[in-house]
Amino acid sequence: MTRIAVVGPGGVGIFFAAHLAGAGHDVVSCARRPFDRYEVESESAPISGPAAVVTDPAELDGAFDYVFVGVKAHQTAGAADWLTATCTPKTVVVAMQNGVEAVARLEPYVNGALVLEAVVYCGGTLVEPGHTINSGGGRLILPDVDASDAVAELFASSPARVSRNPAHLTEKWRKLAINVAVNGVTALTDKHIPVASEGPGREVARSILTEAFAVGRAEGADLADHLVDKMLDGFAQARGGTTSMHQDRSAGRPTEHDALYGAVVRAAERHGIPTPVNAAVGQLLAAGD
Ligand SMILES: NC(=O)c1ccc[n+]([C@@H]2O[C@H](COP(=O)([O-])OP(=O)(O)OC[C@H]3O[C@@H](n4cnc5c(N)ncnc54)[C@H](OP(=O)(O)O)[C@@H]3O)[C@@H](O)[C@H]2O)c1
Repeated sequence: MTRIAVVGPGGVGIFFAAHLAGAGHDVVSCARRPFDRYEVESESAPISGPAAVVTDPAELDGAFDYVFVGVKAHQTAGAADWLTATCTPKTVVVAMQNGVEAVARLEPYVNGALVLEAVVYCGGTLVEPGHTINSGGGRLILPDVDASDAVAELFASSPARVSRNPAHLTEKWRKLAINVAVNGVTALTDKHIPVASEGPGREVARSILTEAFAVGRAEGADLADHLVDKMLDGFAQARGGTTSMHQDRSAGRPTEHDALYGAVVRAAERHGIPTPVNAAVGQLLAAGD
């Protein structure tokens, strides 16, 4: 039987762990805190059921075929023991993390396993261990390689939407652009996502997006300028919605500023593109961590 580990079963990880287990796969969640049931509250893809959970890498018996990583980007090094205990060169690792640097981030820990960087659309808030509230989406967009087909097949009988995409690079940069536009603005203003669609918040978000688009295009993404206003207008629809960075900042937890703003700035430096607004927002978030 295919063996699957989910390292970091949080808001996103629980959603995919629960649907993999519900599809009949042998799934082990590698967690800091114990639980024994998955509970996904969701309008479109609810599921609950028993969970196999370990809280110490020493409890694991051998390697896994697939490892889904759901720790936040800055928690990756802290989860290194889980990764080295679960991965071999035959393992396929699915990185469910925002940003565009998951391959380089994970490779030091995965014993030569193939790392597939997923673009994640899955609104998830962990309310207690094993229990997530899914506010919409349940989608992983995977790179255009054969291993992605096998990952998608794992979800064939589930409502999760997992697929290989020839435009993966564009999808990654489109998602990163959205993240840098709203995450910092919501976290630094302590307001919901529409703050990035009107007034001064829109102007800052516009500058962030314009810089990120220029960098994404230099990296090879297909990002048309007219999408900037479309995205800014779209943020107005997210009434009452906020970002996980806003939630992390409000709760006094570290933010993923480096995986988002740091990634834009690092890529920009490779191409000699100025990104002063992304750099400033990243630095403000770092100062507050
Ligand atoms: N949430 C969303 O709506 C959303 C949407 C799209 C993309 N994303 C991205 O998805 C990624 C995961 O986000 P998330 O919201 O699911 O985060 P999350 O709810 O904070 O979940 C992270 C989980 O990892 C666990 N963890 C941290 N360090 C660990 C360790 N050393 N060993 C084992 N478990 C560990 C945490 O444990 P504890 O529970 O003990 O803290 C938590 O359960 C991020 O990169 C985020 O940007 C999130």
